[in-house]
Amino acid sequence: MATLEILNVTKRFGRKVIAVDDISLEVHDQEFLVLLGPSGCGKTTTMRMVAGLEEVTEGTILIDGVDVTDLPPRKRNISMVFQNYAIWPHMTVFENIAYALRLKHMAKSEIDRIVREVAGMTNIGEYLERLPAQLSGGQQQRVAVARAIAVSPKVFLMDEPLSNLDAKLRVSMRTELKAIHASAKATTVFVTHDQSEAMSIADRIVIMRDGKIIQTGTPEEVYEKSANLFVADFIGTPPTNFFDVTLQKSNGTLHLVNPHFDLSLDAANTARLNGYNKEQLVLGVRPENIVLTSEKDSIMGMTALVVEPQGSHQVIAFKMDEKMVKVVAPSQPKPDMGSTIHLNFSQGTLRFFDPETTFAIGD
Ligand SMILES: Nc1ncnc2c1ncn2[C@@H]1O[C@H](COP(=O)(O)OP(=O)(O)OP(=O)(O)O)[C@@H](O)[C@H]1O
Ligand SMILES: [Mg+2]
Repeated sequence: MATLEILNVTKRFGRKVIAVDDISLEVHDQEFLVLLGPSGCGKTTTMRMVAGLEEVTEGTILIDGVDVTDLPPRKRNISMVFQNYAIWPHMTVFENIAYALRLKHMAKSEIDRIVREVAGMTNIGEYLERLPAQLSGGQQQRVAVARAIAVSPKVFLMDEPLSNLDAKLRVSMRTELKAIHASAKATTVFVTHDQSEAMSIADRIVIMRDGKIIQTGTPEEVYEKSANLFVADFIGTPPTNFFDVTLQKSNGTLHLVNPHFDLSLDAANTARLNGYNKEQLVLGVRPENIVLTSEKDSIMGMTALVVEPQGSHQVIAFKMDEKMVKVVAPSQPKPDMGSTIHLNFSQGTLRFFDPETTFAIGD
């Protein structure tokens, strides 16, 4: 078990490409940290530098306080599971897991004990004598995980380990990975570009874009306190709804106004915007924070364009100035498509963004 520190690390490929741009982050002992970001943002490059498979252009990597920046991969005590989790096809599951232990010249009885322990953790105990070809994709994936944790790494790296699995298996495997982590307790860095996977599995999420870290926080923090427009849009499905509004003051009350609504802010939200002296603002509202209400309590009436029942809730879409706005509402009452719905915003959860800098305001 260990900590991992990445200090001001930059990776350049040639002169033009800056794949990772001066990032710093600390992974705590036994933490499950998720690197999340769109394709090409530098996630794999970061992992490969931690593993020692890619040279660091600038910066330092520490494992348990020891500088490993220039150490070869085998001296770093790291295990990896990557997207194509290549387990050896000619070896049984047992041999796949035992292989790295044999290289350490462990006693046979000790190897046997460890293989059975990690196979139990990953739920593949009954397949130890099978060849990989006789297993399903999800089972093979668990062999890869078992093999990686068998060597008791200080740091466990997983780069999109679930992306070869079908959607349903992906969701159940991520729950299993979380359970495996709870018992193996290895300090883990997990890479994904799937925000819902990140939200469900992470202790903390690091959101990257264009080689930089945009925000680090718990799933709740990045969802409720998204640091800028990019994060607010990237995290959550359906994504945050954004409205361009003008600030207006009348009788000491602050109003957010656009051609469709005039929202009079409560005292707490007014106070949040005290220091903001521009006229334009981007209002961010999560789909579950737009509420269906009576006409009298509403700030706007819109036409329900699409109504999608989801069982536990419904998603209602309407159009405002060519932009689709989505509402997540309790499954009842269900409006008819094409009917007028009356809406208001839940004021406890409004997000404000500066349209010029894109940063959140008033946190
Ligand atoms: N060996 C290389 N030579 C040149 N450029 C590279 C090399 N490896 C990666 N890059 C570039 O560095 C950037 C980051 O790549 P990286 O593979 O780290 O992205 P990623 O976040 O893992 O993306 P994905 O989600 O698609 O796997 C990309 O622009 C990529 O084209
Ligand atoms: Mg990648």
